[in-house]
Amino acid sequence: MKTFPKDFLWGTATASYQVEGAWNEDGKGESIWDRFAHTPGKIEDASNGDVACDHYHRWRDDVALMRDLGLQAYRFSISLPRILPNGRGKVNQPGIDFYNRLVDALLEANITPFVTLYHWDLPQALQDHGGWVSRDTAQAFVEYADVVSRALGDRVKHWITHNEPHVAAFLGYQEGNHAPGMTDGASAVKASHHLLLSHGWSVPIIRQNSARAQVGIVLNTALAMPASNRSEDADAVRQVDGRVQRWFLDPLYGRHYPADIFAEYAAQGFLPDGGSFIQSNDLRAIAASTDFLGLNYYNRSFVQQGALAHGGVFPKNVRLPDANFTEMDWEIYPDGLYQLLCRVYFDYRPPKLFVTENGASFSDAPDARGSVNDQRRIDYLREHFAAAHRALQAGVPLAGYFVWSLMDNFEWAKGYTQRFGIVWVDYKTQQRIPKASARWYADVIRRNGIE
Ligand code: FCB
Repeated sequence: MKTFPKDFLWGTATASYQVEGAWNEDGKGESIWDRFAHTPGKIEDASNGDVACDHYHRWRDDVALMRDLGLQAYRFSISLPRILPNGRGKVNQPGIDFYNRLVDALLEANITPFVTLYHWDLPQALQDHGGWVSRDTAQAFVEYADVVSRALGDRVKHWITHNEPHVAAFLGYQEGNHAPGMTDGASAVKASHHLLLSHGWSVPIIRQNSARAQVGIVLNTALAMPASNRSEDADAVRQVDGRVQRWFLDPLYGRHYPADIFAEYAAQGFLPDGGSFIQSNDLRAIAASTDFLGLNYYNRSFVQQGALAHGGVFPKNVRLPDANFTEMDWEIYPDGLYQLLCRVYFDYRPPKLFVTENGASFSDAPDARGSVNDQRRIDYLREHFAAAHRALQAGVPLAGYFVWSLMDNFEWAKGYTQRFGIVWVDYKTQQRIPKASARWYADVIRRNGIE
């Protein structure tokens, strides 16, 4: 038996646009994801998040389901345009009311709420003024963080400013396969800076409004490894690691932007005027001290020379013949979680870490008796939990683990083609069926460990 620390938190995660639906109800404003998904050709199965899992109406049942599974924490995000339909100014009280009720129900069920303030659904009204390319959006975000932390800060004590700023900036503004669908590298680099800046600016505001709050940020990861010992492959590792990880970790931990990537972006024309949009006090603000770092881990990046030469944001990976993949075509590589946690902790020394997302897309459906036997997801999770346990033994202060996701949901540009949930969702009836992995996870939580 591998036992986890006594106060280790086991939870699941979701995001507003992926589960809530009710896209235009009770005064909610349009978000960039509403606009993007409503644009023909953007989503693989031509779907959108208009209804999604209808969580906006079914939250009470969903909380009861989490309670029945014994979940100890729930990471969810707040829809910015539900709170500030125009991005700034008038607060939409029904939006606040919704999250108030959700938080109260979670606490009543003994589930610790982890609130993500931004999981990609920017109000379209802010996008119309440039979105994250504009420094004003960082200011608008601070106003929003103030409103939400005032409203919920007496009960919510775990705050995440941003989810995966790398994805928000570079898939949204450079690759264009995420909202708002722009394809301009210089805009993406600017967006990344303003996302980080809005994080740094809002940390002290959240602390002010929420006594004894724990504040952090969540990053996506690319544990890059070379496909051979050739120096060109090692350089591909440096580049992938630099763009995906160090570009964010370095400034967050007071080291300024990494010089190698800064030079590359400048050479690519992504830093017009030498990056003059980076103002003199910005780096100090971004390095605001935080209480924890959240890492999302799904797969590794196995790279060779030219891994980013296709102009994409994520590397083209080398495929080993005996490797296994999930339905996202992501390599299953549990030891990467161990390596990632050790690397990030021993290099940057955050006071505490959470695995804020980890999980697998497998589409196992209900059988004749109505059970979903997702053994591959159980295997995936067990091996990743074991890797997290090894990291704890190596001295990494890992404080909790959030499985992505509580339930099947809208997987961004892939629509409903991917199922990450430990709970099956029938999108026609909105029926929820806990999969075998949910039962298995409930057991892990009860015993606080794995075999
Ligand atoms: C992460 C996102 C999350 C989900 C998973 C599969 O990048 O944060 O919303 O889509 O990937």
